[in-house]
Amino acid sequence: MEAHKSLTIGIFGFGVVGEGLYKVLNQTPSLKARIKKVCIKHPGKKRNAPAELFTTNKEELLFDEEINVIVEVIDDPDAAFQIVSTALRNGKAVVSASKKMIADHLTEILQLQQETGLSFLYEAAACASIPVIRNLEEYYDNDLLHSIKGIINGSTNFILSKMFEDRLDFNQALMLAQQLGFAESNPALDVEGCDAVNKWSILLNHAYGIVEHPDNILFSGIQNIQLSDAMVAREKQVDIKLVAQAKKLKNGKVAAFVLPQFIKHDDPLAFVKYQYNGVVIESGFADKQFFYGKGAGSFPTASAVLSDLSALRYDYKYEYKKLYHHKPNELTNDFYIKVYVSFEEWAYIPKEKFEWIEEWHAEAQRKYLVGVLHVSELMQNNWWKDNKTSLILASDPIIEDFDVIKLKKRSLELAGII
Ligand code: HSE
Repeated sequence: MEAHKSLTIGIFGFGVVGEGLYKVLNQTPSLKARIKKVCIKHPGKKRNAPAELFTTNKEELLFDEEINVIVEVIDDPDAAFQIVSTALRNGKAVVSASKKMIADHLTEILQLQQETGLSFLYEAAACASIPVIRNLEEYYDNDLLHSIKGIINGSTNFILSKMFEDRLDFNQALMLAQQLGFAESNPALDVEGCDAVNKWSILLNHAYGIVEHPDNILFSGIQNIQLSDAMVAREKQVDIKLVAQAKKLKNGKVAAFVLPQFIKHDDPLAFVKYQYNGVVIESGFADKQFFYGKGAGSFPTASAVLSDLSALRYDYKYEYKKLYHHKPNELTNDFYIKVYVSFEEWAYIPKEKFEWIEEWHAEAQRKYLVGVLHVSELMQNNWWKDNKTSLILASDPIIEDFDVIKLKKRSLELAGII
């Protein structure tokens, strides 16, 4: 597209995001963007827009020569991939918010962009209103990005805030997240951490040039967190958050995961409550930076789609600098982490798998320990998710120096503790 071209848009989907975008576009005439057609699945539903805008025939959008941009904001990742790939092959730029589709098809999507040379933008797919993808893409040279951690799922953060600060129970909190349009249509995707790991897989690409399917990234959600965990957290003066983290280790490889974590009150992420998202980036020279904003909901997500549309007017494309212009980083699962684990029976916990256990509390009905494990133990086995066992990372969980492990074990052995 030439510079500042006017945009003729075909939208797929008129749900929370699609309708939000329709309203937002109507309020921004300066963008010179016209919605020509909206493709929907269920024509019977009442919609707050003129009936002639809608069709159920996707070809009307994908093969319309006047439409030069397809916005894809539907809920079905397989159908979304078909739409996006056909649109790109037909010479149309694409804006999408489908994080699962993008994470599942990252390799094909990269290839399609290379083949067609067209823009495919998806700022709304991670952290909604926060422009984190474009920031990672344009700043933070590979070698300078020490770590990135964030709260990147609004629904789980909303549920944790509602449960532990406003005393709602889990189901009430989840229902509220659904009513407010934050949750996925299958909320298990939020609660079990799938949505967060999909977003993390996308962000790892823009941060470190890592192209990894979410199945290969260690993750869990908030499904097993208990009230007793919140009580322990209060004693320890920390909050519990679902945190996505990546850290460049001394060997140059990247440790990355999405797990519940104890967050100290002076950590910027402690400030992130309800449907808000937050990302903390640590880089050489610049030190720490904190991005904060609404991570879910109709207008916050539509605002990210809008800024992608605006970028299309000057033909903006992701260059995938970390992947194509630098030596891309590799993920590693060769490091140790400090964890808190609460459980019903000792029999459920393979104690021998811990390097050491530094706290154990066996009195109460719900027992807990704090110990150190090699991360491959969590990748290979599921005991930490089964039998209502709850695992939460310590505040500064990564231990990468194996000498520290050896020394600590030796001193505990000498003291007769292990
Ligand atoms: N279900 C998602 C969330 C929506 O709660 O963060 C925004 O991607």
